[in-house]
Amino acid sequence: MPSRPDSGLKVVGTGVYLPARVLTNADLEKLVDTSDEWIMTRTGIKERRIASEQETSTFMGVAAAKQALANAKLKATDLDLILTATVTPDSMFPSSACRISAELGATGCPAFDLQAACSGFLYGLIVADQFLKTGAAKNILLVGTERLSSVVDWRDRNTCVLFGDGAGAVVVRREPDSRGLLATDWGADGASSELLHLNNPMARGKAIAPPAPASPDCIVMAGKEIFKQAVTAMADSARRSMDKAGVRLEDITCVISHQANIRIIDALVEKLKFPRERCFANVHRYGNMSAACIPVALHEAASERKLQQSDKILLVAFGGGLTWASAILEW
Ligand code: ACO
Repeated sequence: MPSRPDSGLKVVGTGVYLPARVLTNADLEKLVDTSDEWIMTRTGIKERRIASEQETSTFMGVAAAKQALANAKLKATDLDLILTATVTPDSMFPSSACRISAELGATGCPAFDLQAACSGFLYGLIVADQFLKTGAAKNILLVGTERLSSVVDWRDRNTCVLFGDGAGAVVVRREPDSRGLLATDWGADGASSELLHLNNPMARGKAIAPPAPASPDCIVMAGKEIFKQAVTAMADSARRSMDKAGVRLEDITCVISHQANIRIIDALVEKLKFPRERCFANVHRYGNMSAACIPVALHEAASERKLQQSDKILLVAFGGGLTWASAILEW
């Protein structure tokens, strides 16, 4: 989908919430047949955060949102749209966005969830951009919040070492002096959805239809195939966004990609021929937090002053769906 280069979207505030409990690779060695060496070599993940009972998706999303609003110097009542990207909502309805809006005291503000798994935050950013461009919204809160520890099979070493919990949020608005999203690209391939999926047990037949054959209610993943598809789809999407924006690799100051596995990030930058030192990575500390990865990385990169005004940042993600998205954001 072609995008206009005059969006003016500006990230005016960022926030994060990360549960205090750290689950290290040594802890995982006690749960499943694995080792720190295997996890580090194959994924680059050293530890991840695990939510307590109280730290629901809503709880974490609210905390991240409050910090983003404070950084933006805005009140919840200034918001005119709340979007939440999550695959682990506390309830099917109300949406996480409605729950977050209630906790923030943003009564009356439209609020809805969108779901594109690990691409969810970038899908949300592209959606937010449309509302800003049309003038339908001025101040938008976009939250990525995930409690993946609830949907991981803790007996499955193939998946349980990869994921973590956390939330990130941004407040975006249209600023006249900002060039914002220079270009975006997004797509999906539902035909390959079996490679990575999470069933909804509530959606299965109960009373009349006989139950479906046993199907796990945890994340199911064909790791090697997902690895290959993630690298290819993110590189292709990044190139499309760069072409649309008319920017060259040397114009990009920072790449913030979805944080699934350090080898995926390394393969991506190698494919793009992008200098590794200009690629932000925090996957070693948090693992894969799905839709929360990019807003948490954005917050940390901004806090560490790795993003300067007018920098051109490449954001790129891939996830279940299958889905992918990328954007060139002028900071
Ligand atoms: N500890 C020890 N051994 C393990 C573990 C573990 N935690 N997990 C798997 N193994 C074993 C397997 O059982 C298998 O053994 P076998 O060959 O005897 O059957 C072997 O290790 C698999 O090894 P490799 O094939 O070499 O593993 P690979 O290099 O493909 O790495 C991984 C596996 C990390 C899952 C990788 O394929 C990957 O990261 N894929 C992407 C998955 C992903 O990131 N999904 C998240 C959602 S999508 C996204 O965010 C992009």
